[in-house]
Amino acid sequence: MRKFTKIEPSYFSKDGCRLVWIGEDEDDTDTVILNKDELSRLVEILKNNNVGKVELEDNFSEILINSDVVQFRLKEREHLEAKTSEFRENILEYAKIPHEPLHVQIFPKEFYPSVWIQKEDTKTIKEPKKQITLLQAILSGSPKKTEETSSSDLFRIFSTRRSTRKFAKTKIEDWKIEKILAAADTAPTAGNFQGLEVFYVKSKKVKEALVEAANRQPFVNAPLVLVFCMNPNRVKMNFSPEMLSKFSLQDATIAAAYSQLAAHAVGLSSIWIGMIDEEKVKKILRTDLTPSSILCIGYPDAKKPPKSRRKLKDLIHVLEE
Ligand SMILES: Cc1cc2nc3c(=O)[nH]c(=O)nc-3n(C[C@H](O)[C@H](O)[C@H](O)COP(=O)(O)O)c2cc1C
Repeated sequence: MRKFTKIEPSYFSKDGCRLVWIGEDEDDTDTVILNKDELSRLVEILKNNNVGKVELEDNFSEILINSDVVQFRLKEREHLEAKTSEFRENILEYAKIPHEPLHVQIFPKEFYPSVWIQKEDTKTIKEPKKQITLLQAILSGSPKKTEETSSSDLFRIFSTRRSTRKFAKTKIEDWKIEKILAAADTAPTAGNFQGLEVFYVKSKKVKEALVEAANRQPFVNAPLVLVFCMNPNRVKMNFSPEMLSKFSLQDATIAAAYSQLAAHAVGLSSIWIGMIDEEKVKKILRTDLTPSSILCIGYPDAKKPPKSRRKLKDLIHVLEE
C-alpha cells in the first residue's frame, strides 16, 4: 500500500511540483508531476477548504479533492490517493515558498532524473543566467533544453528509463526483438573481439528454470529473456587470463546495457538480473560460458517515471589539476 509522502520540485518544470508516494519497496514508489497551472488550481481549492476537481494536461487524468480523500485518477496508470488533511498541509506548506527560477549547480535540472535544484538561500542571484551545462556541452554542444528535443533523443531515452518487475502479457513484436538483439551487437568490445554470447531464451521451461537460478525472482519469466554470457576465449589479446576475463565481463555488460536501452527506446521496459547462480544458469543453458546478467523485457504493467538519483555534483568528481 502506497502512502503519499512528500512534495518536491518537479524535474520537468521549475514552477510545477512532483508528488511522491512511497510503498513497501522501491517498486511501489509512484509519482505525479504537476505543471504550474495544475499546482495553482490545486492550491486554490485546498486553501479555501473546498472540494473540487483539477484536470491534468493530458485531458484525461484528474485530481478529485473530497473532504476526506484526494483521488488521483490517472491515464493508463494505477490510481492514487492521499488523505485530504495531510495532503492539504503538505501542499500549502510547499506553496508558501516562492519557487522562483533557481540556478542549478551543474545545471542538471533539464536532465531528470539527476535533477537537483539549488537551495533557495542564494539571494545574490536574481536573474537566471543562460549557461551551457557540462552535460549539455558534452552531449549537444549547444545550450538546448531537453524539452525541445524529440522523443527519440538519446538522452531522453537514457533519462526516462525505469526498471519494471511486472510485465503485461502483451506479445512483443518481432521487429522490436530484432532491434534489441541488434543493439547488443553494436556495443563496443575489447579489441572488437566480441567476448560475449547472448542466449535468447524462447523456451517456457528454460525460463522457469532460470527463475529458480535467479534466487526465485518470478519476473525472470518475462516475455523476452536474454542471458548475456562472457566468452573470454574470443578475446585474442596477449594479456593475462584475468584481464581477458575482465574484458569479457565488460563486453557482456555493455551489450546488455545497450539492449536494455534499445528495449526502452521501442516502448518496452526491463529488469536487469545480476543475482544469479552462475553454475545453475550454465547448466540450464547447456553451456560452459559464465553468465554475467539476465535481461528480462516486456511491456510494463504500468508506466512509471524514472527513479531519482543523487545530485550530479556528488556523482561527478572533477579533478581540475
Ligand atoms: C548489476 C545490476 C544487478 C541487478 N540485479 C538485480 C536483481 O537481481 N534483481 C532485481 O530485481 N533487480 C536487479 N537490478 C535492477 C536494479 O535494482 C535497478 O536497476 C535499480 O533499482 C535502479 O532502478 P532503475 O533501473 O529503474 O533506474 C540490478 C541492476 C544492476 C545494474
